[in-house]
Amino acid sequence: ASVAKYVTPLTVPPMMPALPADGPGDHYLIGVRRFRQQILPSGSPPTTVWGYGSVRHPRTFNSPGFTVEATAGRPVRIEWVNELVDRDGNHLEHLLPVDPTLHWANPPGGAERRDSRPAFTATPGRYRGPVPIVTHLHGGHSDDESDGYPEAWYLPVAKDIPSGYATEGTWYATFRDKFAAAYGTRWAPGTAVAHYANDQRPATLWYHDHALGITRLNVYAGLAGFYLLRGGPEDLPAGVLPGPSPGANGTRHHEIPVVVQDRSFAADGSLYYPGRRRGFTGPYVPHSDVPPIWNPEFFAAAMTVNGSTWPYLDVEPRRYRLRFLNGCNGRVLDLKIVTDPVARRPAPPVLPFWQIGSDGGYLPAPVRLDRLLMAPAERADVIVDFTGLRAGTEFYLINEGPDGPFQGDPRAAPADPETTGQVMKFVVGRLTGPDRTVPPDRLTLPRFTPVGAATATRSLGLVEKRSTVRGAGPVANVLATVVGDRATVRMWSDPVTENPAVGSVEIWEIRNLTADAHPIHIHEVQFQVVDRRPFTGGVLPPEPWERGLKDTVIAYPRQVTRVRASFDRAGRFVWHCHLLEHEDNEMMRPYVIG
Ligand code: C2O
Ligand code: CU
Repeated sequence: ASVAKYVTPLTVPPMMPALPADGPGDHYLIGVRRFRQQILPSGSPPTTVWGYGSVRHPRTFNSPGFTVEATAGRPVRIEWVNELVDRDGNHLEHLLPVDPTLHWANPPGGAERRDSRPAFTATPGRYRGPVPIVTHLHGGHSDDESDGYPEAWYLPVAKDIPSGYATEGTWYATFRDKFAAAYGTRWAPGTAVAHYANDQRPATLWYHDHALGITRLNVYAGLAGFYLLRGGPEDLPAGVLPGPSPGANGTRHHEIPVVVQDRSFAADGSLYYPGRRRGFTGPYVPHSDVPPIWNPEFFAAAMTVNGSTWPYLDVEPRRYRLRFLNGCNGRVLDLKIVTDPVARRPAPPVLPFWQIGSDGGYLPAPVRLDRLLMAPAERADVIVDFTGLRAGTEFYLINEGPDGPFQGDPRAAPADPETTGQVMKFVVGRLTGPDRTVPPDRLTLPRFTPVGAATATRSLGLVEKRSTVRGAGPVANVLATVVGDRATVRMWSDPVTENPAVGSVEIWEIRNLTADAHPIHIHEVQFQVVDRRPFTGGVLPPEPWERGLKDTVIAYPRQVTRVRASFDRAGRFVWHCHLLEHEDNEMMRPYVIG
């Protein structure tokens, strides 16, 4: 059945409530729960999802999570609590099919005991055990104990978990003890506490789950939200940019975070994610009676924005600041604003985007764009100017990215214009007050300081490889990273090979030996894109919208993508492909600074 479009007003995620002040900085107690939410239009069944919320305010649980508003220079402490238990205190099962043949946050087995059979497996192939989570602040300049390391996951405290069952990942205790030594706070069971220094440029950050080998499922189930960092000497004075109306929580905002996510639904409103393999298996096959079900990507059938399918937004004829996030698992978006949503593709753009910021904060100068090309996890902070437009005018945000893997040319196979080729609608109304913000073509953005000169260069690669693991079958693929010229494939569990010195500035040269583009994300740092070098020769400068700080960059096939970063916090982090299916199947490596 098709889903009616543009019948639901866009939700603006409200601010996450903080706890009463009890020390320097802001303090939050954020849980992860299961609940039902109206994602499809009203009249359709609600969808069971997982989401974040303030533990003391049950009505704040939502997907995407409410927005954490942070101030540059002022630390934030968040206690992240795994509350995936039912009313009786027993554990909840995963909403979606877990593939236990991947190297994953395997509570009963752990990575080092892969042959043990999952407890709670009522039927072969279906993991019914408690759900591991761990939260990462994407783009945050964090210490490692606060960074949400994929093997620092933890289970909820639940009555039915047998003693002897692993309730935490192998790195949890290390980071718990490090945190206790640094801040004097010991993590309670079922909890991790993070300290975010916010010592970075104001930026559109986001938080999401990062548990090993099930990130794609945990995020798809709803575990993501915005974290907006503002203020300090590197922000613009109030009033220059369109902002939230004072006191109006969720209404009449002129600054709106916009997360686009593709989702599929069963007829009963439940989330659909494939539970069957389509020709690929993971590299780990520990349970001969469990069929591998991982797929290299999943492109869902419907578009959601801020947790509703195809919403509309009533706008005034004035400027809006839209903070876009591609929150899809694997879909590259190519967004445009047009007047006819089903017109032949490529559609002529109508209203431009003025991009003022990217992943790591403001660009050196505003960039006028007809389209926003965004890979998963990338952010685009833009001004859209509706000034002077007649009441009743309607615009559509469309998507011309592909309904399949992105290989570099977004025009190659544009998304279905009737479904995933549409995203949301803007309806212009009447002006209720003057717009005193600065027009984007006259904006001067805060001073941009480039990343310093590199002291070292590192050669890395991306490959797609057939598995040689016994029993994996003839069509098994490994998505892995290659280090050095000898092109040795490295798995997640292999020893650390990327180990920049504390305070070093390195160029990472990422050689993409696969047929598809991969958005590569490096934790802890905000880097600069240096250039891209096609294998056939030549040097491509960064795109105009890539000239600020970034934490995620598209590595195109048959190119070397070069980024430069300053590695200034000692610790154990990760770098990986942000196509979540790839990340979950070996396209991720630990790295250590210092
Ligand atoms: Cu957005 Cu390593 O994550
Ligand atoms: Cu990838």
